[in-house]
Amino acid sequence: PEQWKLKKTVVLVGMMGAGKTAVGKALAADLGVPFLDSDAEIERAAAMSIAEIFARDGEAFFRDRETEVIDRLLEGEHGILSTGGGAFLAERNRKLISDKGVSVWLKADLQLLWNRVKHKNTRPLLRTVDPYATLREIYEARVPIYGMADLSVEARPEYSIEAMAEKVREA
Ligand code: S3P
Repeated sequence: PEQWKLKKTVVLVGMMGAGKTAVGKALAADLGVPFLDSDAEIERAAAMSIAEIFARDGEAFFRDRETEVIDRLLEGEHGILSTGGGAFLAERNRKLISDKGVSVWLKADLQLLWNRVKHKNTRPLLRTVDPYATLREIYEARVPIYGMADLSVEARPEYSIEAMAEKVREA
């Protein structure tokens, strides 16, 4: 097994359904480095699901926890950090990420994202009367912001998780 020493934490950003968690886990395992996940860490600390946090405390509260967790995780041993889809939107988070990490946008088109998220009920932002329209609006608003990432890697339906991990590694 490989045992990499990363100079910086690699931070995966991009939309819900882009594969940040799955690809991050695979890449971390391939490189023998820690896998870090901001959503999972927020859920663990709160002992609640993301959906419960949004419902009980609201999105602004979640975003504050998200910034704290990203800051803390970037202080630890370097690894692969998968973030929630909204994490890269806040200037404060982009600053933390560019100071201490290298950002990689997992770039998927709207159809692929929709195919991956449509059957799930775990994303509070998509609990609307027309989740597809909501996803499209979010996507269109966010693409220019994800474009500020240091690197980008295209996700396609035919790429396996391992293939995506390999592409991030090459990037
Ligand atoms: C969000 C994406 C989710 C989670 C929360 C908000 C977003 O993470 O952080 O529901 O704003 O796009 P995933 O990208 O892992 O679904």
